[in-house]
Amino acid sequence: MRPITERIDGLDLSVFDVVPSQTSDAEKRSLLAVQRAVARRFGAYNYLEIGSHLGGSLQPHVRDPRCAHIDSIDLRPQTAPDDRGKDFVKAFKDNSTERMLQNLRGMGEGSVEKIRTFDMDSKDVPRDQLARPLHLAFIDGEHTRAAVLRDHALCRSRLAEGGVILFHDLYIVFPALMDIVRGLGREGVPFLPVKLERSVFGLFFDPAMVHADEFLARSYRENLPEYKRLLGRYRLKSLLPGFLKDALRA
Ligand SMILES: C[S@@+](CC[C@H](N)C(=O)[O-])C[C@H]1O[C@@H](n2cnc3c(N)ncnc32)[C@H](O)[C@@H]1O
Repeated sequence: MRPITERIDGLDLSVFDVVPSQTSDAEKRSLLAVQRAVARRFGAYNYLEIGSHLGGSLQPHVRDPRCAHIDSIDLRPQTAPDDRGKDFVKAFKDNSTERMLQNLRGMGEGSVEKIRTFDMDSKDVPRDQLARPLHLAFIDGEHTRAAVLRDHALCRSRLAEGGVILFHDLYIVFPALMDIVRGLGREGVPFLPVKLERSVFGLFFDPAMVHADEFLARSYRENLPEYKRLLGRYRLKSLLPGFLKDALRA
């Protein structure tokens, strides 16, 4: 078996094999490509995840010796509100931190000791208890506009210069992403918004990181038309009166 950093840098999906993740193979490949780009840029890195469930998306970072510290924030509700539909509620069966840690220990590789867990919403996390600087964040918690905005605010408050914030389920949380992109534009912060494979979206505060990685550069280029299509549709929808928006959503 090849060394773990070679497997991660080779975008080998078997790195995700032990603990189930709520991401597709194409998304896992995007997550690994960002992980290798961050490791190449910073050497040792700190990772923060909001929404860890069974630990699936944590496992490549637990295994990666270049990942120095992990903060995992998860409110651990059994159900959560979700913007994918009016009255839609997302269920998380047997959702517990203990179960997640047990799954990750079961890998028999990497260090579960580097994880600090916070069983709460991001708004309640004491900021001074989080590792700083944060090099890579993945937001995959409550999929509502308000929650994504507060999750992003927390990540930004700890982010290293040139760090990366990733989001899952781009199609559900697109309005929040547009609020964030507009806000960063107003601040005059240099960043590159990138749609990666399927539902993964990233804010790269060092745009050169995207161009330097073969996979990320190609994914950025190939997904740009789809990102522009979503942007156009979003702008059009925001011009519509409320009753028409509700009818479209229905
Ligand atoms: C889609 S799952 C995460 C899946 C995981 N990232 C993976 O790929 O394996 C969403 C998680 O967000 C958590 N969650 C729901 N509402 C939350 C909130 N307000 N704050 C933090 N976490 C929340 C749920 O408990 C659940 O574990």
